[in-house]
Amino acid sequence: MKLTLKVWRQKNNADQGKFVSYPVEGISKDMSFLEMMDVLNEQLTEKGEDPVHFDHDCREGICGMCSMYINGKPHGPQQTTTCQLHMRSFNDGETITIEPWRAKAFPVVKDLVVDRSSFDRIIQAGGYVSVNTGGVPDANEIPIPKKIADEAFDAATCIGCGACVAACKNASAMLFTSAKISQLSMLPQGQVERKERAEKMIAQMDAEGFGACTNTGACAAECPKGISLTNIARMNREYFSAVVSSENV
Ligand code: SF4
Ligand code: FES
Repeated sequence: MKLTLKVWRQKNNADQGKFVSYPVEGISKDMSFLEMMDVLNEQLTEKGEDPVHFDHDCREGICGMCSMYINGKPHGPQQTTTCQLHMRSFNDGETITIEPWRAKAFPVVKDLVVDRSSFDRIIQAGGYVSVNTGGVPDANEIPIPKKIADEAFDAATCIGCGACVAACKNASAMLFTSAKISQLSMLPQGQVERKERAEKMIAQMDAEGFGACTNTGACAAECPKGISLTNIARMNREYFSAVVSSENV
């Protein structure tokens, strides 16, 4: 395949940034999108030019690092991560536009790399269990109904990629935050800090500058892990019950 890549180049956060077009050749339909970006970077390096900076780690769809808009959609035309997107989803001769996530809470570091430490700070605010659980218990010592275990596991599959924020017209982080709150609120181990967790994580989410949810559902439609909007409803219930019980103390 021959392609034209229209790539966002930005030296640093202070730089205004601009699109630069690059032709690439010899792309196989079986390459992943990131492998295609590697080909571009080899070409740029051979010419002595600065390669395009982009994040990646696992290249297996589990770390959530490979964030970028492809033709205006988070992670491109398929509901998957960029590293799991293959060039067979594109046509020979196509022009592909590639940009970094656009959200106030995800400032651009360089080119396609954004700073997603705002997500880390939301987790630090309450996305953990700090009680001493002692040694490793037998797997069946705390029976958890299958339906609840499955729902908690589904919520836990969120990889923190930020596509939900990138897809949302309000740059809301409610799908991400709700997945993290849900996964702990449904399990016995998460009960001790359940109330303060919802309040603290939502307060941090707001402090980071993420927008509000207006129930459009673009987040769930683009989420590579299929995190459900049900988690947002559960997070709202967690929050209101925490606030009401704090006021009654
Ligand atoms: S909810 Fe989905 S889109 Fe959002 S960070 Fe988690 S995995 Fe990514
Ligand atoms: S590089 Fe890890 S999810 Fe894509």
